[in-house]
Amino acid sequence: MTRRVCVIDTDPGTDDAVALWLALASPELDVRLVTVAGGNVGLGHTLRNARAIVGLAGQAVPIVAGAEGPLLGAFRSETQVHGADGLAGVALPEGPPATPGIAADAIRALLRAEVGVTLIGIGPATNLALALATEPALIDRVAEIVLMTGAWSEGNITASAEFNAWSDPEALAMLLECGRPVTLATLELTAQALVTRERIDALRAAGGGACLDATARIMSGVPPSRRFAHRGHPLHDPCAIAWLIDPTLFTHRDVHVHVECGGVARGRTVVDRWDRSGLAPNARLLDTLDAEGFFSLLTERLAALP
Ligand code: RIB
Ligand code: CA
Repeated sequence: MTRRVCVIDTDPGTDDAVALWLALASPELDVRLVTVAGGNVGLGHTLRNARAIVGLAGQAVPIVAGAEGPLLGAFRSETQVHGADGLAGVALPEGPPATPGIAADAIRALLRAEVGVTLIGIGPATNLALALATEPALIDRVAEIVLMTGAWSEGNITASAEFNAWSDPEALAMLLECGRPVTLATLELTAQALVTRERIDALRAAGGGACLDATARIMSGVPPSRRFAHRGHPLHDPCAIAWLIDPTLFTHRDVHVHVECGGVARGRTVVDRWDRSGLAPNARLLDTLDAEGFFSLLTERLAALP
């Protein structure tokens, strides 16, 4: 099996925690670097959470702090979903120290060392955009950019924008125009990965160790979403990871995506699903998800972690 060399840029974040554990549990992915931004909660919390999450998996992956906020505009967290600490109040043992330095520099250093790196963005895209903008010569060394971001229907932080895209729309626009393949897991895709009581119970029944136990506790601590009649909440970030592990769980189409960066619709991703604009596609949109297959994969992989 050829393992994908990956960077995961994250803002943990309850779903980020599950995404990181899924990635670290999967032999298909060679996670070489975790970079952290402010997002769901402030950078102080997201960095501490990233250290704890990686530490609980028992893997020595460098963790490097990056942007506290967006390239432009104001920072805003989302503590209603993730809690003040970012992990729904689930306390994890303190993880290993962060690696000194700055996220964008660490991403560039990896790109200089490796060709064919996959950049995985599951938070605001600031660190990834800064890395590519400050050394454009490295862009060709990127194999694929996979992002949980955007929405073609309604948003989840404003009526028109999804949180990651809204947090730094300029950064997202830069990634969409960088010329490398970009795959998007939008809210419409992640809505198909609904965490319900039954799915949490099935996860717990798998046994596993501290990571699976923490996953079940974190999932149980996220408030059910009114968007889904309080039946559960969407598991956003692990969908981006699952695409790289088992693409057969998905259908997809190539689309043009425009990011609105101003006005009341700031952060809106205008996704041309039916090629009405005639503009060349700049992204692969993940359309459908085999939800049962996704949760089976998640359960199987997390059960194998410490
Ligand atoms: O809108 C969902 C996204 O925003 C997820 O990545 C979640 O962790 C938050 O960062
Ligand atoms: Ca996230």
